[in-house]
Amino acid sequence: MTAAPSGGTPATATYDRIGIGYRRVRRPDARLAALIHQALTGARTVVNVGAGTGSYEPTGARVTAVDPSRVMLDQHPGRPKVLASAEALPFEDGAFDAAMAVMTVHHWPDLHRGLGELRRVAHRQVVFTWDPQHKPELWLIEEYLPEVRELERTRFTPLAHVAEALGAHTVLPFAIPHDFTDGFQTAFWRRPEQYLDPVVRQASSTFAQLPPSVVEPAIARLRTDLASGAWQRRHADLLDREAVDFGYRLLIAGRDASDTA
Ligand SMILES: C[S@@+](CC[C@H](N)C(=O)[O-])C[C@H]1O[C@@H](n2cnc3c(N)ncnc32)[C@H](O)[C@@H]1O
Repeated sequence: MTAAPSGGTPATATYDRIGIGYRRVRRPDARLAALIHQALTGARTVVNVGAGTGSYEPTGARVTAVDPSRVMLDQHPGRPKVLASAEALPFEDGAFDAAMAVMTVHHWPDLHRGLGELRRVAHRQVVFTWDPQHKPELWLIEEYLPEVRELERTRFTPLAHVAEALGAHTVLPFAIPHDFTDGFQTAFWRRPEQYLDPVVRQASSTFAQLPPSVVEPAIARLRTDLASGAWQRRHADLLDREAVDFGYRLLIAGRDASDTA
């Protein structure tokens, strides 16, 4: 692993605390991978910023993984790996054909600086994130844990602002399939019993940042509603839906595939 060459030790990330076991629950989903790989078509060198364990990296490119969390990078199977933050990428201008950032920009202390760094070091930028202003919300937030809404509004920036700061020319929606494999917060919208599992909850930084005194009573109510059939009666309409758009979006900026060859 390579350490950032200047600026001292990178800030310890939340994921140094919660990252252990991440790969068991956060398994890359093939449908989201296809969307991201399509956006990276033609890129021979890719920097994956906030790479974590390496989900969604393309196989046909030389990928450099960047993350400020040693716990996460230690679980990343690839090389080279660089311990650094998005806000200070230790690379030359235009060093990569493309930069990718998947479910990470909401963790960056300085979003604009980080997005500026993606634009500086790569010719194309591919960012997957979530819009906190999107409706509908997950039922878990509306009915059990409204505290999630407040937390997410402090972490996620409205999509229009992210798109503008990145200079995105394309915004693609991604509806979450009912059997989505990457266990982030919304993944289990049709499998409510999954939220009862503390291992599943721990792999989501949202749950991990809320105090147990808030999460546990809410989960106890969900358990009761599932056992009584109340949840199933309230959400009968969800049970035969294949996918729901909860506001996840892929943003693409910079050169497109035909320009990069
Ligand atoms: C939800 S994980 C996503 C990991 C991976 N991209 C994926 O899709 O599975 C968020 C990652 O962002 C990283 N992160 C936190 N702060 C960061 C920063 N300032 N710059 C870059 N990455 C950061 C965390 O360490 C963590 O690995």
